[in-house]
Amino acid sequence: MSVRDHIQFYLGDQYCQVSGFAPETTVLDWLREERHRTGTKEGCNEGDCGACTILVVRMQDNKLQWKAVNACIQFLWMLDGAQIFTVEDLRDPTGALHPVQLAMVDQHGSQCGFCTPGFVMSMVAYYKSPSASTDEGAINDALAGNLCRCTGYAPIVKAMKQALATKSDHFDQKEQTIKNRLEKFLPRSACKISAPAGTVSLPATAEELASIYQDNPDATLVAGATDVGLWVTKRLNSLPHIISIGSVESLKALHETDDELWIGAGVTYSRAHSAIATILPDAGEVIRRIGSTQVRNAGTVCGNIGNGSPIGDGPPLFIAAEATLILRKGQVTRSLPIEDYFIAYGKQDRHPGEFIEALVIPKPDKNLLYRAYKISKRFDQDISALLGVFAMTCNSDGLVTHIRIAFGGMAATPKRAYATENAILGKPWNEATLEDARDAIQTDFTPLSDMRSSEWYRRQVAANLLTRFFAETATPTTVETRLAGWKDKAYV
Ligand SMILES: Cc1cc2nc3c(=O)[nH]c(=O)nc-3n(C[C@H](O)[C@H](O)[C@H](O)COP(=O)(O)OP(=O)(O)OC[C@H]3O[C@@H](n4cnc5c(N)ncnc54)[C@H](O)[C@@H]3O)c2cc1C
Ligand code: FES
Ligand code: FES
Repeated sequence: MSVRDHIQFYLGDQYCQVSGFAPETTVLDWLREERHRTGTKEGCNEGDCGACTILVVRMQDNKLQWKAVNACIQFLWMLDGAQIFTVEDLRDPTGALHPVQLAMVDQHGSQCGFCTPGFVMSMVAYYKSPSASTDEGAINDALAGNLCRCTGYAPIVKAMKQALATKSDHFDQKEQTIKNRLEKFLPRSACKISAPAGTVSLPATAEELASIYQDNPDATLVAGATDVGLWVTKRLNSLPHIISIGSVESLKALHETDDELWIGAGVTYSRAHSAIATILPDAGEVIRRIGSTQVRNAGTVCGNIGNGSPIGDGPPLFIAAEATLILRKGQVTRSLPIEDYFIAYGKQDRHPGEFIEALVIPKPDKNLLYRAYKISKRFDQDISALLGVFAMTCNSDGLVTHIRIAFGGMAATPKRAYATENAILGKPWNEATLEDARDAIQTDFTPLSDMRSSEWYRRQVAANLLTRFFAETATPTTVETRLAGWKDKAYV
């Protein structure tokens, strides 16, 4: 079978076929330096500020999906098979501004203007989303990945609301054209980009991926690049051989049965969010706070596990839920309880040439009490100082028959609190048990002090999260632990 030596995509309405570029070339550098699309700005170059936001359009379930992503931490080859739009594409053919741009003018949504193209692109992505509404909480979520140091956010939120009153834009007329173009790219064939600086392999099937990685175990696997992108832009690493996970359509699937949810290696947090939130609402609430819309549109659930970080938000959520990883090397697959994947700092139970093919989350028993608490300095767009997740079932006598507690940020790996679980299992869920558990949790972990928090703070908060879990789950529950209606509050 022939392997393409170029990627193909549309930049606005222009067909692009590109080959021979270095594996680490970012979309942002290519747009600015090769195509002189300088409306897309470089602010932080690490996915934090949103100044580089562009729109990536792909077909999913026979529909067009318009997604905002950070061009600074997306690699050029990730555009294969897509149509992208930058701020230069927003005017209609007569030169009229997009409704979002008009609203930004009307509402005085820009001052120095540096953040404005990025904001406008995130706003257009939200405008194109089927679930877009004028709900302020939802708008805040959509724009949480864009930072502005001068305007203040109120006029921008008002502009978003104003734009939503205009029901259609010039992209609606182009919808069929875009679909036809993207369908021509399907099914995607395998592709290999070779350049003096290195190689990128874009397999089209899981079999091809498994075989290429088995033969090249030193290559760098890249799914959404929201971690790997920073190795390039911040650490200035070279990546001489990259193997793409995102090019494999079958791994972007979510399967649901009566008993479990199966999340393929290419599934982004945005795609998985509602399915996970349906079975584990508190996990959904934490996922809503992972990075920003742009980060969740690119970052995968399995990439968050694959990187082995002790402060990744996914692992504790899934350890408490008793999830399993499907690992694959060549044709051989094995399943592993997710907690066993994390051996030590920087060390995971993954053999050379083996990758995570999927995460499988069992659907919880209807009596399971599952709570997850993310503690970070900022509400949005911040890495956890610590994250505590509790899953418990009690019998009709009030005795605890099942308990699983997992923490991130408290050890060199995401980790279960075994001593605390032992202090609770089989006991009545009352204040005496809570006190024993608060003592036990101090023996489970020896956390570090770092820029996110001190050891003392982590210990204190871990115990306090137990108290919060007790306050939310002991009967009768009388304490209000969550701000009622915070999502509906205005910025001003
Ligand atoms: C601005 C910003 C904010 C962020 N906020 C958060 C946050 O709030 N919470 C949080 O947890 N994370 C956060 N992250 C980190 C990141 O977004 C997540 O870890 C994300 O889920 C990584 O997924 P990815 O697909 O982008 O991984 P990639 O960057 O593609 O890969 C990450 C690592 O996992 C490996 N890998 C990827 N897929 C597999 C696989 N299938 N099998 C084996 N190894 C694999 C890669 O080789 C690499 O080592 C943030 C990142 C940024 C840039
Ligand atoms: S430049 Fe800041 S998110 Fe890309
Ligand atoms: S208008 Fe100046 S940073 Fe937003």
